[in-house]
Amino acid sequence: MKFIIENFGCQMNDHDMDKMGSVLIDHGHVAGKDVDEADAVIVNTCCIREKAEQKFYSLMGRLQHLRRKKGTILGVTGCIAEQEKENIFERLPFIDFALGPSNIHRVAEALENAAGGGRTSAFGDNTCSPSLLIRPHNTRRGIKGYVTIMKGCNNFCSYCVVPYVRGREESRRSEDVLAEVREMAGRGIVEVTLLGQNVNSYNNGNEDLSFPELLSGIDAIPGISRLRFVTSHPKDISPELIACFGTLGTLCESIHLPFQSGSDRILSLMNRGYTSSGYLHKVEALKEQCPGIAFTADCIVGFPGEQDSDFEATMRLMETVRFDGVFSFIYSARRFTTAANLPGRVPPAIAHERLSRFQKRQRAITLDSNRAMEGSRVEVLVEGQSKNSPDELSGRTRSGKIVNFRGNPGLVYKLVEVDIIKGYANSLRGELRDTPGR
Ligand code: SAH
Ligand code: SF4
Ligand code: F3S
Repeated sequence: MKFIIENFGCQMNDHDMDKMGSVLIDHGHVAGKDVDEADAVIVNTCCIREKAEQKFYSLMGRLQHLRRKKGTILGVTGCIAEQEKENIFERLPFIDFALGPSNIHRVAEALENAAGGGRTSAFGDNTCSPSLLIRPHNTRRGIKGYVTIMKGCNNFCSYCVVPYVRGREESRRSEDVLAEVREMAGRGIVEVTLLGQNVNSYNNGNEDLSFPELLSGIDAIPGISRLRFVTSHPKDISPELIACFGTLGTLCESIHLPFQSGSDRILSLMNRGYTSSGYLHKVEALKEQCPGIAFTADCIVGFPGEQDSDFEATMRLMETVRFDGVFSFIYSARRFTTAANLPGRVPPAIAHERLSRFQKRQRAITLDSNRAMEGSRVEVLVEGQSKNSPDELSGRTRSGKIVNFRGNPGLVYKLVEVDIIKGYANSLRGELRDTPGR
């Protein structure tokens, strides 16, 4: 059958989409190009904020027409499937299957069952997690590879639905992770990103490698030039992990470290387990160990009870760190979460005003940090040709910034040296050095 996967959500979901695609291809199905010609459409979902859910339901409205017209098989996977469980068949009676994130390994079975008129559902925290063990074909991402090292989350930040839809933390055995990375290196992957909701609590309480030990193990694998991980929780940034930034040659000079708020009162209501000064100390220690390290983060404005003074504290924290980029969101009340019952709802107009003030200032800081790179020479991993012009190449620095420059398409997937000549809001312009890098 010809299938399409429509994907929403975080990098974990992107990777889950790749895994499902690979399972389906292994079962003899083919990836289609557009929804109208597909025999089956699978929607991999996210419910982190209300907007994500709205997007999903409006897409399902459109797919319902397709179903009526052509009998297209429809499946819903991921976090909304888990959140709704069996109720999803009441809300969307025209779908054929629903699989939670721990059950995506059953996607081929569900599809084939649907072709015979059957309906499949599977939810729940499957503790042996076969979904974690799928090794996706690397068809979409060239020389970049992703490995899930853990699933779930135990942190229960008061606003967050993830622990309810992805279940408790479960780390994969380090020997399996290392074997997967070795295999990737053998296939020509040079950049590896370790994925998990809270990667730096990897193997907490288990008799297995700690997160810093895992990083060292991967660093030693021949062929891997760049190592990244996402996401880390500030409370679990250990001295050993900070030291890795000084000692491991492959570990890229960038870290995504969500702070969520700069107000200690709000951080405590969020159940984050650190204060703004605790966060800043870790940032300082990282900068000391790794000068030039790029910081990115997530932040929420308009959390229940957030006063002007709390928001100003958030602005101050952002000014102090000078992030290279921040994903900022308006608080969205989520089912199951304790924050949904907190008093002090912030009026939407005020929340929007705060968000736009925050974003305007952060855009200016990002532009400054990109301009500060003008005149420097950086290593770029070439990811592809520009869509607009065939002799334009595009890649990323170790710090994660996008660089566009003129170059021969033969350099795609190579590491090259580039001189930065201009910094823009979202990217850098460079000039290729004569000699390719490593
Ligand atoms: N595990 C990661 C990412 C979780 S989701 C972490 O702990 O940082 C990605 C981001 O979405 C969060 O960092 C947070 O900034 C935002 N987010 C999560 N729940 C939210 C909610 N209810 N409303 C608004 N933003 C939210
Ligand atoms: Fe959600 Fe907090 Fe877990 Fe991140 S650490 S997934 S924000 S509960
Ligand atoms: Fe969304 Fe689920 Fe990821 S809710 S952010 S897809 S873990």
